[in-house]
Amino acid sequence: MTVRLGVDIGGTGIKAATVDLERGALVGDRHSVATPRPATPEAVAAAAADLARTIDNVGPVGLGFPGVVRHGVAATAANLDPEWVGIDAAALFSDHLGGRPVTVINDADAAGLAEMRFGAGADQSGVVVMVTLGTGIGTAVFVDGMLVPNSEFGHLVLGGIEAEQVASSRAKQMAGQSWKQWSRQLLVFLEELERLIWPDLLIIGGGISAEFRRFCEGLRTATPVVAASLGNDAGIVGAAIAVRERAAVQPADLADQEGTRR
Ligand code: BGC
Repeated sequence: MTVRLGVDIGGTGIKAATVDLERGALVGDRHSVATPRPATPEAVAAAAADLARTIDNVGPVGLGFPGVVRHGVAATAANLDPEWVGIDAAALFSDHLGGRPVTVINDADAAGLAEMRFGAGADQSGVVVMVTLGTGIGTAVFVDGMLVPNSEFGHLVLGGIEAEQVASSRAKQMAGQSWKQWSRQLLVFLEELERLIWPDLLIIGGGISAEFRRFCEGLRTATPVVAASLGNDAGIVGAAIAVRERAAVQPADLADQEGTRR
């Protein structure tokens, strides 16, 4: 059994667990803490490292980050402190973890990887878009199972407002909307995605996907829409998978830190 530690950094909470990479499943408990506020690089890295240490102290770590991550460096951080922009997140987390190798990937890309390898998108060819609904809206695009990293469709501007301001699960909560009201905005977003990228399958993830049956009726897209099957664990599982698939999600210079283990 190959296991890796997966950490999922969210705008609201940080979750971590050991993941069995052959089964795409958690081994043992999921641990979590609230995301510190302000969510500065130092505060978040320290909190994530403390959490990781409660689980184990050795081996590479995969980390899902709620922003664009290029070559380990955060390029955006819409729901964390703006100080993150330009920070080498992989190096910072690694420093806080006593030099353990760290692979950092966008959180929605991580969740998408987990669903494509072990969940609702397993064996799906063509263009698949995973949409995670949480504090923000994350998207992950796959072409024949290969990730096209850092898609940011949650920031599409629809009627003058960013999609994540009206169709994320936080937006529903803040506006106190019914499932029906909220799913109308979600449908507008999904239809825009269809118009722009013509997916073969849409996968809806994030904690709210556990309630999929309450809002799926309103999602009358031409493209099939399914609920993610790994639920809240997808981000953790995908972050751990990213360690193994890091050559696909990070540049080659970091790909040989651990030797190739596919
Ligand atoms: C960020 C994305 C992230 C999503 C979910 C958005 O605001 O821009 O990078 O995947 O939130 O956390």
